[in-house]
Amino acid sequence: MANIVLGVTGSVACYRACDLARELMRQGHVVRACLTKAASEFVSPALFEALTQQPCLVGVFDEPEPGRMAHIDWARWADLVVVAPATADAINKLAAGIGDDMLTTLCLATEAPWVLAPAMNPAMYSHPATVDALSTLSARAAWIVEPTEGDVACGEHGQGKLASIAAIVEAIGTLTKRSTRLHGKKVLVTSGPTREPIDDVRFVSNRSSGKMGAALAQAALLMGAEVTVVTGPVSTPLPARARVIRVETAIEMLEGARGSAKHSDLIIGAAAVADYRPIDPTPGKSRRGEGTVTLALTQNPDIIAALAKENPRAVAIAFAAEPGEGIDYARLKLHSKGVRAIAINDVSREDIGFESDFNELVWLTENQEVRSGRLPKLACALWLLEHATGELSALNAH
Ligand SMILES: Cc1cc2nc3c(=O)[nH]c(=O)nc-3n(C[C@H](O)[C@H](O)[C@H](O)COP(=O)(O)O)c2cc1C
Repeated sequence: MANIVLGVTGSVACYRACDLARELMRQGHVVRACLTKAASEFVSPALFEALTQQPCLVGVFDEPEPGRMAHIDWARWADLVVVAPATADAINKLAAGIGDDMLTTLCLATEAPWVLAPAMNPAMYSHPATVDALSTLSARAAWIVEPTEGDVACGEHGQGKLASIAAIVEAIGTLTKRSTRLHGKKVLVTSGPTREPIDDVRFVSNRSSGKMGAALAQAALLMGAEVTVVTGPVSTPLPARARVIRVETAIEMLEGARGSAKHSDLIIGAAAVADYRPIDPTPGKSRRGEGTVTLALTQNPDIIAALAKENPRAVAIAFAAEPGEGIDYARLKLHSKGVRAIAINDVSREDIGFESDFNELVWLTENQEVRSGRLPKLACALWLLEHATGELSALNAH
C-alpha cells in the first residue's frame, strides 16, 4: 500500500477531498493532507488531521517535526501526490514550476508521480493557459483525471466538475499497483509522425500527436526503466528524465534509433512512420503550374522490423494503427516484422487514438489476444508495459 500526499486546493469541491481521503485509507493507503491557504478557507486543516490521523500542512514554514524541513520530508515519504481538487491556479503554477506555498513546493521536491483532478468554472477550464498547463503536465509524470460535465457551483453548466471519487481512486490504484519490473532495463520508444519532404517547405506526414509515445516513455520511467525516445516533430512535451532524439524523416528516425536499439531490452515502435517518401524532393519551393502534378513515392524502411533485426535479444513491439480492429492483418505483421507483439489501435474511432488523450489497445502475440478497454493514454501505456515485461521474462527464460 502507498504513502499518499493529498493536496487540497481552493475550490468549492474541496469538501469532497474528505471522502477521497477516507476511501484511500479504507483501501489501506496512508494519507497525509496538505492544504493551500485558499483551501483552508473552505475546510479546516483540523478536519484532515482528525480524518487522516496525520499532521496536515498548510504554510511553507509548517514543521510537524522540529528541525526537519517538511516539504522535503513529505516529498521523500510520498509514493504518490494527488491534488484533488486542483484549482486553475494550482495547475498553472505546477506547470510553470512555481513553488510559492507548501503544496507547490512539495510537488516540485518530490520524485513521486502526480495525479491531478481539476475542478473549476468551465471558462477557467477551457482558458488557453489552463489547457496548455494541463497538456504540459500530462506530458510529464502527471495523470489528469478529467472533470465531468454538469452544473458547477457558480451556476454555470459545462466541463469543470470534480471527477467522481471512484474515478480518482481508480487512477490512483493504477499508479500505485504499477510494478517496477523495468528497473535496470533500457527502453527505446519511437514516437510521433515523420515528415517526408516534397520540397524545402512542404512535406508528406500524418496526424500522429506523439501522445502515446510520450505516455509510454512516462510509464516506462515510472516502472523504473532508463528511457530513450526517438521522436518525429511533435509539440507534445516529453518527460524530462527521458533521453530524447529529435528527427524529421523516417530515414533519420532509423539512424537515430539504431544506436540505442543495440543496447535496449525493450523496443517499442509507437511512431507513425510514413510508409512512403517522395523520391526526389525539389530543392527550394516548387512553383504552381498548369494541370495536375504527380508525386512519385518510394518505400521507406520498416523501422521496427529493422530495429528488431538489429537486436534479436530485445523484446520488440510494433504499433498497428488500423481502421477497425484489423486483427488478422496485424497477425500477419507479427511475422513479417519479426516482433514479439503488436499493439493494435483503432484509428477510425474519434474517442481514442490520434490526438486523443485516451486509447484502447489490443495486445497481440503468438498466443495472446487481450484488450485494454478505453483508458487514459498513461494507463494504457502502463497496461502495455506490464504485458511487455511478461514477454521479457519469457525471452530471458530461454
Ligand atoms: C467561493 C470560491 C470558490 C472558488 N472555486 C474555485 C474552483 O472551483 N476552482 C478554481 O480553480 N478556483 C476557484 N476559486 C478561486 C481560487 O480559490 C483562487 O484562484 C485561489 O487563489 C486558489 O488558490 P490555490 O490554488 O492556492 O488553492 C474559488 C474562489 C472562491 C472565493
